[in-house]
Amino acid sequence: MYIILLGAPGAGKGTLAKMIEKKFGISHLSTGDILRDNVNRKTCVGNQAKEYMNNGKLVPDDIMIQMVKGRVLEEDCKTGFVLDGFPRTIEQAEALELIFNGLNVTIDAVLNLKASQETIIERLSGRIICNGCEVIYHTENIPPKFEGKCDKCGDKLYQRDDDKKDVVKKRLIVYKTRTKKLISYYERQNSFYEIDANKKADEMFVEVCKNLEKVGKSG
Ligand code: AP5
Repeated sequence: MYIILLGAPGAGKGTLAKMIEKKFGISHLSTGDILRDNVNRKTCVGNQAKEYMNNGKLVPDDIMIQMVKGRVLEEDCKTGFVLDGFPRTIEQAEALELIFNGLNVTIDAVLNLKASQETIIERLSGRIICNGCEVIYHTENIPPKFEGKCDKCGDKLYQRDDDKKDVVKKRLIVYKTRTKKLISYYERQNSFYEIDANKKADEMFVEVCKNLEKVGKSG
């Protein structure tokens, strides 16, 4: 199964992708996670990407397209994947179409997570992530059992550098000016679904599963 998640920063793409990964047994490909891993390991891509990410800007298309092209060829992607954070520009969407053609597969669903501005700000300001296994928590909505500690692996929880107020503002502007255009790119397709992302994560997941059943995917 092949799924694309669209939505503003903080809409809940990563949270939903992890639920889909668990239920349907497909890999969660988050370009944000791949980039952060490269930044932490100080790789060539990481060193190039860091400045863009910390300023709320998009990393150049050529870097992102090469990264995704390589990642989808890995063994764990053979039975499908859920893409979180890619595509983000029309150029990336066009490149993705070629990638899918090359793999000889079609997109089963494009899910557009629609959340209000208030929801987005509230979610990003409370987000905390596990340093070890990358589980996503929220200080109010989805808190860990013990403050600052991951329920799953016990590692420390941290706030992302780009979740600081001034960077969030820039990321939202970039979303509105560049990424939102992808909605009209994909909404003409049968596989496009709009999801109410203001709901609780479990409720949102139920809505997603209902839509996936319509395309014959029930996990
Ligand atoms: P990336 O990591 O992809 O960030 P993003 O798209 O801005 O999205 P987020 O990860 O901030 O939010 P999310 O929608 O996944 O929400 P989450 O589930 O965490 O990208 C970071 C940067 O990398 C970009 O700015 C760019 O520089 C670069 N980049 C990445 N991909 C690129 C590309 N293709 N091209 C160019 N540059 C690229 O949820 C948020 C919070 O809300 C969490 O605390 C969660 O617990 C909580 N929450 C989630 N859902 C719910 C719910 N339903 N109810 C209550 N709480 C909820």
